[in-house]
Amino acid sequence: MTILLKRDVTGNHKKNSRRRSVRLLASVVAISLLVILQFPSVSLFDYASDVSFESTEARSEQRSSLSHSQQLNFTLQPFYQNPTILKKNCSVTVLFVDPNLGKDSMWALESVVANILPLETTCVLLQTSVCEFISSTDGHIDAVTGTIAIQQASNKTELYNYNRKAQQVRQLAEPLFGKMIDRGNVRMKVLNHSRYNLKSCHNFYNPSHLLENYHFWGPDEFLPEDSDLILMMQGDAVLCHELNVDKWKDVAWVGAPWPARKGKKPWHFCSFFPQSWKEFHEHAGSTNIPTFPTDDQLCTDTSFGPQGNGGLGLRSRSWLRKSIEYCPVVSRTISGLSQQQYDAAPCKATNVAAEDIYFVTILRGIGAPLPNNFEAALFSMELRSPNAIAEQYSLNQTFMEAMVQRRWYSPTDPSGMEYYKTMLQQGQNLSSQGIDPLIPIGVHKPWNDFLRKRILEDYLNDQCPYMKHVVECSKYGRKHIEEMKAAAK
Ligand SMILES: *[C@@H]1O[C@H](CO)[C@@H](O)[C@H](O)[C@H]1NC(C)=O
Ligand SMILES: *[C@@H]1O[C@H](CO)[C@@H](O)[C@H](O)[C@H]1NC(C)=O
Ligand SMILES: *[C@@H]1O[C@H](CO)[C@@H](O)[C@H](O)[C@H]1NC(C)=O
Ligand SMILES: *[C@@H]1O[C@H](CO)[C@@H](O)[C@H](O)[C@H]1NC(C)=O
Ligand SMILES: *[C@@H]1O[C@H](CO)[C@@H](O)[C@H](O)[C@H]1NC(C)=O
Ligand SMILES: *[C@@H]1O[C@H](CO)[C@@H](O)[C@H](O)[C@H]1NC(C)=O
Repeated sequence: MTILLKRDVTGNHKKNSRRRSVRLLASVVAISLLVILQFPSVSLFDYASDVSFESTEARSEQRSSLSHSQQLNFTLQPFYQNPTILKKNCSVTVLFVDPNLGKDSMWALESVVANILPLETTCVLLQTSVCEFISSTDGHIDAVTGTIAIQQASNKTELYNYNRKAQQVRQLAEPLFGKMIDRGNVRMKVLNHSRYNLKSCHNFYNPSHLLENYHFWGPDEFLPEDSDLILMMQGDAVLCHELNVDKWKDVAWVGAPWPARKGKKPWHFCSFFPQSWKEFHEHAGSTNIPTFPTDDQLCTDTSFGPQGNGGLGLRSRSWLRKSIEYCPVVSRTISGLSQQQYDAAPCKATNVAAEDIYFVTILRGIGAPLPNNFEAALFSMELRSPNAIAEQYSLNQTFMEAMVQRRWYSPTDPSGMEYYKTMLQQGQNLSSQGIDPLIPIGVHKPWNDFLRKRILEDYLNDQCPYMKHVVECSKYGRKHIEEMKAAAK
């Protein structure tokens, strides 16, 4: 079975889905845990099961039909080399910040290349570290995780390390991402960790200080070919089906929606956002505070719902820079603004735990174009599925379908309805069990909620074929697998 089957409406597909629905029925009210107990041979985490590397190859063939006619063969550099990009610029720049660039990163990137459109002009910027690698056998890389021991590099070895890192990335790359490197659509840069107040050369966590810096989003790190719209992605995220960037060009930001809750706690976002907006202005001594949606509006009006998660999302660099200028984080060094710009800002962001919460508060306040909550749910999931959002805001089918048409895309049906209808059809029996059949374009941290209770694994493997690899290669994903195994005992 390959993932292409879900779009194939021939008898072959029907046979497969019948086989699958027999299994689905047999598992009755199965959540994924039960499925693992009942059908260990089709465990989500079993590499030898239904979705194998074959499906990757099938996808690879499918994607190569979009590829360049010229045979290019470049190695990684800090700049793009593909002549098409140099001529036409990037339709989107995928930003991947990771000091290590291990196997988890490679699967996340593979899922992007497998699903993003237009592919020819998709650029990838890797912001990484070239700290000296130290391990018992020099250059040895852990087979499963691709992790390597690293320590601070000296100036002298930087070039050597850059080349070694470039080779390592090319070796670890899965087939589609490897082709992107060979075609010169990928560039790699060494991030100056001290400039952006990051912990160390090889530890960028927490990256908020980097992303809250005005200069990071400008010409210091991005080239003229790079796009304004960025797909920001972490190694614990995955794209499940096509992301046509052209259908999202209007947004300043999109990321998975968060639970709509009112209250005093920081994660009760309907109250937290308007409250923060007020406090940020008070901190800067401003008395004239521009209006912000109320907590009731945020919790009940779908066009305002609290969103969105930054681990997998689209963001406009110019809007991010406007946000930082209007409301820099405290302190000035983190914001990267000049003393004069910083002093003039009518708003100062204090006590912001994470960059995504910071940006979406300011973007909302300054009137940046944001999608509605259901559109955000169609884009990505972290804690709330599209169905949960539809229920919470009592959305009707007409509205939901209009949003699908606006935001989804499939190669055989640019309106995206094919995906939607197929999911609803295949998932009919799932929804009667309280399981959500709608899989968004991407998922961030699938083990948060997604794997635990929502989706049967056969169905998930079909709709999101790269997820299992991302889960398997991530530290938290592996922890989740161990927990599942322990619970099964
Ligand atoms: C690219 O270049 C490398 C080294 O020069 C070579 O080993 C490899 O076969 C080339 N690949 C293609 C697809 O031409
Ligand atoms: C590419 O981007 C540069 C800088 O933003 C711009 O000057 C140029 O016109 C763009 N080229 C095309 C073909 O859009
Ligand atoms: C690194 O090299 C630069 C320029 O060659 C030099 O100015 C700087 O002092 C060096 N830094 C270290 C830590 O050696
Ligand atoms: C890194 O940033 C720091 C602080 O801005 C600066 O002093 C240093 O020269 C930079 N290092 C490199 C290699 O550019
Ligand atoms: C569906 O919802 C939209 C948006 O809330 C509303 O404008 C429209 O009237 C609704 N349509 C029906 C048939 O209820
Ligand atoms: C759903 O279940 C019914 C029986 O309850 C079955 O007839 C139907 O084929 C199933 N649909 C799918 C898509 O699995």
